[in-house]
Amino acid sequence: MATKSTYDRSNLTSVDGLIAVVTGGGTGLGLIIARTLEANGATVFITGRRQDKLDEAVKSAQHGRIHAIQGSTTSHDDLQRAVDFVTEKTAYIDLLVNNAGQTTFDSSPNARPKPTGQSSVAEIRDYYFNYRPQELWRDTLETNIAAVFTTSMAFLELLDAGNKRRASELPKSQIIVIGSTGGLTRFTDSFIYNASKSGVHHLIKNLGGFLVPHDIRTNIIAPGWFPSDMTAAVSKAYESTGGVMPRELVPQQRMGNPDELAGTVLYLASKAGGFCNGATLVIDGGFLQNHAGP
Ligand SMILES: NC(=O)c1ccc[n+]([C@@H]2O[C@H](COP(=O)([O-])OP(=O)(O)OC[C@H]3O[C@@H](n4cnc5c(N)ncnc54)[C@H](OP(=O)(O)O)[C@@H]3O)[C@@H](O)[C@H]2O)c1
Repeated sequence: MATKSTYDRSNLTSVDGLIAVVTGGGTGLGLIIARTLEANGATVFITGRRQDKLDEAVKSAQHGRIHAIQGSTTSHDDLQRAVDFVTEKTAYIDLLVNNAGQTTFDSSPNARPKPTGQSSVAEIRDYYFNYRPQELWRDTLETNIAAVFTTSMAFLELLDAGNKRRASELPKSQIIVIGSTGGLTRFTDSFIYNASKSGVHHLIKNLGGFLVPHDIRTNIIAPGWFPSDMTAAVSKAYESTGGVMPRELVPQQRMGNPDELAGTVLYLASKAGGFCNGATLVIDGGFLQNHAGP
């Protein structure tokens, strides 16, 4: 059973020739993931609703191996079209990264002041019951949980086809979900987002057990704050300190950088992470050291 290792880093973390799908790969974390894989020899299919963002992402490819498929992860038809496109091009995949997600940050210019724990009960009720639209729950849970499930189901046969063609000593097909420390903490008041991420963490563990007989691995990356469109307000809040955050908030006093996500993805997607199945990799600068959940 023992396989000899050369302990060579380029072999250990190689993703050369890998076929991957990254949802929401046109911007932010998804783009970092797509570019990392592609720069290191993988072919990457990215999805997203905005064609212009996808086009820019395709242009950023180092070897011309990022391919865009416009569409929403919440649409059955779009998902089927994406599967058909990939089936025609490669007929299998090795990796599905469920990255597409949405936040519930209140960016309205006329927003009522967001209540704190010290706000009156009336203010808290008014903000969450009268002001915040109920649809936010529906949209966020649909995108951050339900669509992760349906996307995984849509690509299941292509992941299985990946297993069937790959040499048996190489890591099995894998679904990675981009969860969040928001799903592991009681600290922030992003209630809807946190509930959605907590839900998807549970979902993917639940699904992981179910997929064991089919050799499809499931793993989670739970990032803390990284700069992206989603966290523009956080970046802005620490502009005046040059990005330095309070140690009580994030022990490393900053947001994550692209290399830290890229390295995590290379680890999980390559031989190095081949024994991971059911893992949650937290990359948060120590945020959960201060603010762990239950
Ligand atoms: N940035 C952070 O600090 C942080 C921390 C923890 C977790 N995360 C998670 O990381 C993931 C990526 O977020 P980000 O920070 O990179 O923000 P982002 O730049 O806003 O990325 C979100 C991406 O998802 C796509 N998307 C959203 N809804 C979609 C849908 N229904 N169908 C297809 N694509 C969809 C968006 O493209 P379109 O709008 O064009 O569809 C966009 O490319 C999310 O799951 C987020 O919750 C981020």
